[in-house]
Amino acid sequence: VSYLRNTWYVAAWSDELPPAGMLARTLLDEPVVLIRNSAGAVSALVDRCPHRFAPLSAGVLRGDSIQCRYHGLEFSSDGRCVRNPHGPLAAGLAVKGFAVAEAHRAIWIWMGDASKSDPAQIPDLAYLSAAPASAFSCGHLHSKGNYELCVDNILDLSHTDYLHPSTLGGGAVTSTHQKVTADEQSIQVEWYCANTRPAPLLVSLIPELPPQTDFVTRVRWYAPAVMRLLSATVPAGQAVEQGYVNLNAHMMTPETRASTHYFFAATRNYCVDDAALNARLAETRKHIFATEDMPMIERVQQRMGEREFWSLEPRLLPVDDAPVRVRRRLQQLLAAEATGS
Ligand code: FES
Ligand SMILES: [Fe+2]
Repeated sequence: VSYLRNTWYVAAWSDELPPAGMLARTLLDEPVVLIRNSAGAVSALVDRCPHRFAPLSAGVLRGDSIQCRYHGLEFSSDGRCVRNPHGPLAAGLAVKGFAVAEAHRAIWIWMGDASKSDPAQIPDLAYLSAAPASAFSCGHLHSKGNYELCVDNILDLSHTDYLHPSTLGGGAVTSTHQKVTADEQSIQVEWYCANTRPAPLLVSLIPELPPQTDFVTRVRWYAPAVMRLLSATVPAGQAVEQGYVNLNAHMMTPETRASTHYFFAATRNYCVDDAALNARLAETRKHIFATEDMPMIERVQQRMGEREFWSLEPRLLPVDDAPVRVRRRLQQLLAAEATGS
C-alpha cells in the first residue's frame, strides 16, 4: 500500500493528549507514540524500542524523555538514546521520530521527509479554534474501511438522503445538481437547493424555522483527506451568512489499508451560547456517524475485500464527480511523490 507521506495528517485532537501524557496510535501502518511533555510540547516517535521492540508507549515519561519499560533504554523527544543502563550510547540505538505541529485544536503529523515539513501547509481551519466551547465539538471514530472510502462518503453527500433520512437528509442534496470546482490546493463541491424542507434534525432543534428554506452545502477537500464542510439552512432568498450555518471538519488518517481514524469537528453560528444544545448536537452527530456511516463503510469494505476500487469497475453516477476528481488528484500526488517531483 502506498500513502502520501510528505503531507500533514491529523494524529489526534489536542485534548486527547494531556500534559505529561502519551497516546499510542497506528498511523499509515506504523505504530506511533505521541508524547506531550509537562511544558506542553508534543513529539512523535515510532512506538517500537530498537532493542527488542517493546512498545515505548508502555514505558515511563521522565521529564523530556521516555524510558522503555522492558530493559530501561531512555530516548529523548527526537528519538536519540540518552541513557543506556547496559553500556555506551551507540548511534544505532535511536528510534525514528516524526515532525509534528499543533494547530486548529489538533495534533498533525508528517510521516515523510521531516526536512520538507512546513506547518504553513496545514489547511486553514482557524474557525475550529475561534469557536466558543459552547459552539464546538469534536470526536474520533475508528472505521473499518479504507480512508478513501471515508473521503468519498463526505464528498458525495447524496448519501444523507438515504442513510440519514430522519436526521441530516431530506432529499435536498439528491434533488440538486452539484457544482464542482478545483484549484491547486483543493477541490470543492457545492449543492444549492432553493426552497426545500429543512433537515429533520434542525427542525427538531429550532422549532421556529420556516417550513421552506434554501439549503447550501459546500465541501472543500485538501490533500490527502482534510475536508471543511459548510452546511447552511437559509430563510428563502437571504445570504448564506444569515442562515443557520454549520462549519464542520471531517479528516481521515489511514490506520491500515482497510481501517481509518476518522476525526470530525463541528461549529455553528446559531445558539452559540447554548451548551446544552451543543452537547445534544454533538451526541446526535456522533451517534449518526457511529451507527449509520461507519457500518455502511465497513460493509462496503467487506464487499470489496482486498480488491482495489477501480479494478471492480464501479458504475459511476453524476454524484461521483467530486470523489473521482479527488481520487485522481491523490493518484497524481502519489506519482509525483514517488518520482520526487
Ligand atoms: S526492548 Fe526496550 S530496552 Fe529492551
Ligand atoms: Fe453520513
